[in-house]
Amino acid sequence: MDSSVHLTNIFDPVSTPAQAIVELSWLVLWICAGIFVIVVGLLTYILIRFRRRRADTDEPPQVYGSNQIELAWTVIPMLTVVVLFLVTTRTIKAVQDAVPSPDTVHVTIVGHQWWWEIRYPALGIVTANELHVPVSHQAQPRPTFLKLQSVDVAHSFWVPRLAGKTDLIPNRDNSMWIEPREPGLYLGQCAEYCGTQHANMLLRIIVHARDDFERWVAAQQQPPVNNPAMQAGRDLFQATACVNCHTIGGTEAKGTFGPDLTHLMSRETLAAGAAPNTAEKLRTWVRDPQTIKEGCNMPNMQLTDDELNQIVAYLLTLK
Ligand code: CUA
Repeated sequence: MDSSVHLTNIFDPVSTPAQAIVELSWLVLWICAGIFVIVVGLLTYILIRFRRRRADTDEPPQVYGSNQIELAWTVIPMLTVVVLFLVTTRTIKAVQDAVPSPDTVHVTIVGHQWWWEIRYPALGIVTANELHVPVSHQAQPRPTFLKLQSVDVAHSFWVPRLAGKTDLIPNRDNSMWIEPREPGLYLGQCAEYCGTQHANMLLRIIVHARDDFERWVAAQQQPPVNNPAMQAGRDLFQATACVNCHTIGGTEAKGTFGPDLTHLMSRETLAAGAAPNTAEKLRTWVRDPQTIKEGCNMPNMQLTDDELNQIVAYLLTLK
């Protein structure tokens, strides 16, 4: 993808809700700019035209009580506010009342301190931090509807080029949808302060052409890789506390506090975008997560170098 593309520009929407929001934003900005120009223009004119002159000695004449002027500056702002209210309501309603089509992809996103759990219940896929969705063309719409939940504190899902912000609140289901029209990578982040590593709770949305999306789904649905050469690392992983927090399909590891690692190496980043998912960074991460993401809930497991090598070698096979 062209690196000059602004991945988070709110004024460059590629999805229906974001488009509706930016149109509304421009209308509000233009109305406010008009009011600003009128007020500052009149103020400047009056300051210059009626400034105090040397010859002025008396108090100027005190004039008050013009019904026409008072009505004008009461009614015009009221009408302006009513117009803004109505167009805003129309946009909110259009975004909120959208009905999923039969072709819609349904995804559940669960906020955690500090990462995103991503589930596709109908497809049997569980992943983290990188949301893959199909492109949606006008002739063949294929939106993605998101159910938003949280297991701990309030988070907020925000991908500026695709939609507005929606909070993820504990004990509550929120929803939103996106309908990206162009394949590519779109960046987002948590937009509600949720603790120490809020700023490192990053999101990547990968919008695929239709065939590519089907290929991604098929790859994620593959049974977990089970390389016999990695038996030592696998046994070691299952013997440590890693299994309390992580799931790896086909193993004893069934924890759900941390990201599902079944297809770990299909992801581009680690630690919700805090580091690229390379062998070197993965090793640093497993050795001591706090060096990459201070305050995160994954502890230093105090592994020996040998154990670390075995576990990392095993994790690197989880494609
Ligand atoms: Cu999650 Cu801020």
